[in-house]
Amino acid sequence: MPELICLNADLQPAARQWCETYGFSYGSKADLQQPGFHLVLGFDGLSLQEGGKKGKARVQVDFTAGAAAHRRKFGGGLGQDIAKAVGISSGYKPSVIDATAGLGRDSFVLATLGCTVQAHERQPVVSALLQDGLQRAMGDPEVGDIVARMSLKFGSSHELLVPVERPQDKPDVVYLDPMFGEDAKGSAQVKKDMQAFRSLVGPDLDADDLLDRALSVARCRVVVKRGRKAAPLADRAPSYSLTGKSNRFDVYALSKVAPLENV
Ligand SMILES: C[S@@+](CC[C@H](N)C(=O)[O-])C[C@H]1O[C@@H](n2cnc3c(N)ncnc32)[C@H](O)[C@@H]1O
Repeated sequence: MPELICLNADLQPAARQWCETYGFSYGSKADLQQPGFHLVLGFDGLSLQEGGKKGKARVQVDFTAGAAAHRRKFGGGLGQDIAKAVGISSGYKPSVIDATAGLGRDSFVLATLGCTVQAHERQPVVSALLQDGLQRAMGDPEVGDIVARMSLKFGSSHELLVPVERPQDKPDVVYLDPMFGEDAKGSAQVKKDMQAFRSLVGPDLDADDLLDRALSVARCRVVVKRGRKAAPLADRAPSYSLTGKSNRFDVYALSKVAPLENV
């Protein structure tokens, strides 16, 4: 069970809450001297921090700054492949279940483009980091409205994706981005913080099963993000693909992405 290291006694109630929600046990500050990555609660929120003498790398979800802010301002809006793959238009912003949310980068891009996004994450540390990032961004003058369109469920999409009868209760789109096995997404140069994320999550070996489940749940389409040259999920050919520099979006079309009354 992962341990949570609390840096200040004033944060003990919050630490207890995280431990109860995610089943973490308590670690001690001395553990930070040990190499490897540790889950740490400080006044600036939850983070994964590298311990030991050389340790400097840190993973934290921050939607207000860094790469997320840059992509929000300069990412290319509806011209981005992810927007086209999901079927976002100026007239309609589909509802999306991001069934493999990770640290929520894609969810945040989709919410920035106007979609409502329900994110699912099953890895406890990753889910906690994402929940913490969402909580800190709530009320932020620049991204508060965006994260208000995002919600998070801690659990596996194998259980959380449940088919429903009524079309109005279905998500328009189910989005999948499972972790590959070795050399995920074809990048050999994975930064240290991303290496930490990878070693935490490991390959999503059961990802193929998610495709059928997603197809039984979505109203309009399922979108799967893959490495540029990777085989399609479950070896099932998509309706079509959008291929970028390092990624590919495989689209499994069910119906036009449009409001229900227009279909
Ligand atoms: C490659 S990462 C996703 C990255 C994400 N798209 C982003 O933009 O940050 C895959 C994530 O999906 C999660 N995952 C895989 N299978 C899942 C499932 N069945 N239910 C919920 N989460 C799952 C893994 O724990 C991992 O955090």
